[in-house]
Amino acid sequence: MAIVRPEQPGDEAEIAAIHIAAFPDSTEADLVERLRGTEHWVPELSIVVQQETQLVAHVLLSRVTAGDAADALALGPVAVLPIHQRGGLGTAMVRMALDRARALGFDCVVAIGIPAFLTACGFRPAAPRGLTIEMDVPDEAFQVAELKPMGVLPGPVLWPDEWEGTGV
Ligand SMILES: CC(C)(COP(=O)(O)OP(=O)(O)OC[C@H]1O[C@@H](n2cnc3c(N)ncnc32)[C@H](O)[C@@H]1OP(=O)(O)O)[C@@H](O)C(=O)NCCC(=O)NCCS
Repeated sequence: MAIVRPEQPGDEAEIAAIHIAAFPDSTEADLVERLRGTEHWVPELSIVVQQETQLVAHVLLSRVTAGDAADALALGPVAVLPIHQRGGLGTAMVRMALDRARALGFDCVVAIGIPAFLTACGFRPAAPRGLTIEMDVPDEAFQVAELKPMGVLPGPVLWPDEWEGTGV
């Protein structure tokens, strides 16, 4: 029985452990630490999946500038503990995070990541929507989920300083 819920005080170390287990190094865990508590952090949108007493997955949506959207978010990092991967958990968790962001009134969520996974979560290529990034990534890896009509408006995506060193 899995529970999907916002992170709570005391979850921090377990969330870091999920990212360290899923990624090659601590870059993503460190990003979560840097963003937590900043103006970009939306407490309801740091979401964990809890199975019994263990946290097995985490996704963060935090504020960025994306074109002319009034209230845009970025996806990342997102990770599922390796033993639980490829069972649909990541997709279900991200879809729930997008639903919660929509309910909070956000316009869109941008992401750079695994194209097939992002597509499975409901994202679509961002470049054809007029969004631009300075980094050199394949078009299909840069995607956006529109959360409301006219939620995606063209222009550059600007990442807060906390993202420096993560490759964006
Ligand atoms: C990426 C991740 C969050 C996906 O969560 P998950 O629960 O394992 O994925 P799902 O079972 O929901 O996958 C749904 C679909 O996304 C795609 N997908 C997921 N992970 C993928 C991968 N590593 N490579 C290519 N496609 C992938 C597949 O199309 C998959 O469907 P399939 O299993 O039927 O082929 C998880 O595997 C993970 O933590 N990976 C390491 C961290 C990482 O790379 N995060 C960045 C994500 S952008």
